[in-house]
Amino acid sequence: MINIAIIGGTGVYDPTILENVHQDEIKTPYGLVSYKVGDFAGRSIAFIPRHGSKHSIAPHLINYQANIWAMKKIGVQKILATAAVGSLNTAMKLGDFVLVDQFIDFTKTRKSTFYEGGDKGVVHVDLTSPYCLTLREALLSVSQKIGIVIHSSGTYVCTEGPRFETPAEIAMFAQMGGHLVGMTNVPEVILAREAEMCYSTIAMVTNYAAGISPNPITYGEVIEIMNENTEKLKKLLMNTILLIDTTLDCSCQQALAEYGGFKL
Ligand code: HPA
Repeated sequence: MINIAIIGGTGVYDPTILENVHQDEIKTPYGLVSYKVGDFAGRSIAFIPRHGSKHSIAPHLINYQANIWAMKKIGVQKILATAAVGSLNTAMKLGDFVLVDQFIDFTKTRKSTFYEGGDKGVVHVDLTSPYCLTLREALLSVSQKIGIVIHSSGTYVCTEGPRFETPAEIAMFAQMGGHLVGMTNVPEVILAREAEMCYSTIAMVTNYAAGISPNPITYGEVIEIMNENTEKLKKLLMNTILLIDTTLDCSCQQALAEYGGFKL
């Protein structure tokens, strides 16, 4: 049984922590999903590079519904996602990890629900705590144990992309309470909750956001900082997977109880 999945963001394209890796694919009502499966510490772990293995899928064109549905279908209960982000404040520095706990949605064109009426009906999922508290606690305690600098909370502003933001947008996001900016957490986190899965994002600060950085932002600097910190990220993922107890029930897994539960 595959209980845990890693969704790799920018700079995380290969599941190098896994052994005996093989490629698999699954048909979903939203399209075909290719993913990898491998072993780590006696567990089968699934891996999806969110942007494709060669960073060829733009953030607004990622098939978030298909990816989450596919992971649910193969039995995944817990998703550890990684995300490269720009920082809106100087306390969250280059290379720092942040355990995102809230988001603000500035996306424009994405399907952010499995429930679009018709036979499936309509649901209004609660997102008071959008990111799984249990997974965040596990990540936090592991980081402290292995000596990785991590911020225990942060508000992620999700933009539509693929362009970077203007300084005026960043100033507005900061005034609204945003700490980080990225292009992919929405709708991934929402769909995971609708599918009653535990989901957590490890955000890594790869640049200061537009207008905070003294220079124009380049994709090159994002990749460079990401690459410099991949070993830390791997260590955090490996030690957290060791700690995850997939037999424990979590409130994320009852997110749609009011509607009779999520049905594939
Ligand atoms: N903006 C949006 N997405 C990002 C950034 C940014 O500055 N850095 C990494 N992903």
